[in-house]
Amino acid sequence: MQLIHTVSELHARLANEKAIAFVPTMGNLHEGHIELARMARKRGTCIVVSIFVNPLQFGPNEDFDKYPRTLEADCVKLQGLADVVFAPAVSEMYPAKQTIYVELPPIANELCGEFRSGHFRGVATVVLKLFNLVQPQIAIFGKKDYQQLAIIRQMVTQFNLPIEIIGAETSRAADGLALSSRNQYLSADERTEAVYLSQTLAKVRESLVGGANGYAALEAEAGAALAKRGWQVEYVAIRRQSDLGIPVEGERKLVVLAAACLGKTRLIDNLEVCL
Ligand code: PAF
Repeated sequence: MQLIHTVSELHARLANEKAIAFVPTMGNLHEGHIELARMARKRGTCIVVSIFVNPLQFGPNEDFDKYPRTLEADCVKLQGLADVVFAPAVSEMYPAKQTIYVELPPIANELCGEFRSGHFRGVATVVLKLFNLVQPQIAIFGKKDYQQLAIIRQMVTQFNLPIEIIGAETSRAADGLALSSRNQYLSADERTEAVYLSQTLAKVRESLVGGANGYAALEAEAGAALAKRGWQVEYVAIRRQSDLGIPVEGERKLVVLAAACLGKTRLIDNLEVCL
């Protein structure tokens, strides 16, 4: 495995590769990321994992500074799985101030986008840059960031990028909590409570499968149940899987998404529902 920090070294290393499978990450790798790398291993002959905490996707009051940076440990975890780890400095990714961004459709300002202004613009812009640098045939993203995945799929389609995007199932702890680098911010009590987010989504899914179709009432009920337990709820939403639009009656492929804070830690999760 080769650890590369610069664009010129990356170009030289990848010049003759024909089947690159790419896993973009912000590092602090957990089992979910490792699963993405395993999937990549099965699909490409050269596996590239990027590790880059992208300042463009963090708001001024968010956790960019304290986001855990653990490059050495991450490289150990990727031994035998990745061929190349690309870990550029901010100055390498943005040698000049980035003044051109990917302009996104209105869905980027809904759900998480409503609470993280400019977040998806920053994500799409860095992912497009990474795609241009790595030029993969395949790229793998976790479904935990469902809205991110949907936006990246749209970007790839609308910009005619010759990249197959694969969505990987969310990796979960034994109690159901979706794995996330931010879980380590939780206190012991918060970690115990955190499981309630996936349980709440599972209840909504149960109701939908049982035939309930009053989406707004289901969303409100789930949000209220979380709030009653002390969560600061941003949203619970039932959307269409395909484009995250508001589902019309009779829609069979749905996804229930939520974002809520426990103390200072913001958690997101989602569950797909096929009726
Ligand atoms: O999901 C992430 O870790 C990040 O949003 C990504 C896709 C690596 C872009 O910075």
